[in-house]
Amino acid sequence: MTSSLNLIVMAAGKGTRLKSDLPKVLHPLFGKSLLWRSLASACELPVESAYVIVGHGRETVQAAMAKFSLPFNLTPIVQNPQLGTGHAVMQVQQAIGDKPLGTVVILSGDVPLLTPESLKSLVDLHHTQNHALTLLTTELNNPTGYGRVILAGETVQKIVEEKDASPEEKQVKTINTGIYCLDWQKVSPLLAKLNNNNAQGEFYLTDLVALSIAAKLSVGVACLEDSTESLGVNSRQDLAFCHQVLNNRSIDRLMSQGVTIVDPNQTTLGPEVLIGLDTVVHPGCVLTGNITIGKGCTIGPHSVLNDQVAIGDRTQILHSWIKNAVIGPDNIVGPFAQIRDGAELTHHVRVGNFVEVKNTRIDHHSNAAHLSYLGDAEVGSDVNYGAGAITANYDSIRDVKNKTVLEDGVKVSSNSVLVAPVIVGKDAFVAAGSVITNDVSPGDLAIARGRQADIAGWVTKAKEKAAEEKALETT
Ligand code: UD1
Ligand code: CA
Repeated sequence: MTSSLNLIVMAAGKGTRLKSDLPKVLHPLFGKSLLWRSLASACELPVESAYVIVGHGRETVQAAMAKFSLPFNLTPIVQNPQLGTGHAVMQVQQAIGDKPLGTVVILSGDVPLLTPESLKSLVDLHHTQNHALTLLTTELNNPTGYGRVILAGETVQKIVEEKDASPEEKQVKTINTGIYCLDWQKVSPLLAKLNNNNAQGEFYLTDLVALSIAAKLSVGVACLEDSTESLGVNSRQDLAFCHQVLNNRSIDRLMSQGVTIVDPNQTTLGPEVLIGLDTVVHPGCVLTGNITIGKGCTIGPHSVLNDQVAIGDRTQILHSWIKNAVIGPDNIVGPFAQIRDGAELTHHVRVGNFVEVKNTRIDHHSNAAHLSYLGDAEVGSDVNYGAGAITANYDSIRDVKNKTVLEDGVKVSSNSVLVAPVIVGKDAFVAAGSVITNDVSPGDLAIARGRQADIAGWVTKAKEKAAEEKALETT
């Protein structure tokens, strides 16, 4: 059992190499920012406080942080100007004064793929081997850009940044992941000794390694087996690569849990996606966010599931777009349906092609099979909602959305408009082409359109007249 610790997360850098107006740490990876993903790697540690160093674009970063939901509180600490990673940690020292932080884990806000298990092993090793400072390292075939961990025999000597490295040091494939565990009381006094005499003119946190050794403190190393966990994001290329790594992890995890993924190369699945046994995911699907899918479902081809979506067992989602919706078991959605923002289908519901359902609950055995819109409605069971039917839910004068209620057994025939607020009572029938502005009582038929008038022989007479006109012209 690890005793509680404090977290420092460096997120003040500009991210120059990304070339973006958005601060680097807010760039999204499967719907969550790099910063959120970096912080989430600590969610299994007993974190007391997390100090997040903000600087470049700090208003935007702090506003985003305020919306994070994580199992620990975040305290922003401003670093201005940004004079390097060592300078960043000095800001925490200045902000907290003499407060003893005990064990501290330092993370980078741009290293998003680290798993909670690996971070926990780093902390465990730090404690069991009783080090003052423990580095998380890994081996990379192409270590270009990373700080190299220079060993003397078996023990660590120092970290050298790419820009300061000699040709021999550049050959070293053991790199610094930028993640550390340290004893704050022992190591933080050494921050005062950092200088900026290096190629980048910055105060490097990495110089703490050589300083700790000079101060006779014990420095240890934990090496990541899976080097992809250490990937940092400095460019758009890195961002795309992280996306690919996370996607491969999800696909691998889900296939091992009994999900068929027909073509992994054409499937995009975020790390938060959970899918039950024997569900088949067809090519062209993009699933991002907190997505939960039951057993025996068919998803795709070509479906997008976004944000918060729950899907019950045996449901089929074909060629459709689903966002913030709850779809129960045994439903058939699509092809080409949009189910969004507060929509709920209970079970045995069919929503067919070119149907949009928004903020609407549809109860069991109801159908909206073609070309229709249901917005801000409550639809009972056994309802048939015909092709071309529309809920006119928007009052543009008052800028409000009004509700439509279709009670159990209601039949709304094709091309009807239900002008909300309106209630159609149980088993009532709305005739095709009606514009319904008043409530309909249970069991009634509502017709609201011009009556049909037949004009006998009109076509024959019209054609005869046209023929006479033509004959006159030619004589
Ligand atoms: C850093 C390490 C390098 C390591 C690499 C791993 C140093 C000197 N180098 O290099 O050894 O291999 O990470 O990814 O630490 N930041 C601040 N304030 C600053 C500067 C940076 O908060 O003044 C933040 C950045 O926002 C970023 C993190 O610190 O989240 C790392 O900074 P970055 O400039 O990306 O360092 P690297 O060059 O990648
Ligand atoms: Ca970096």
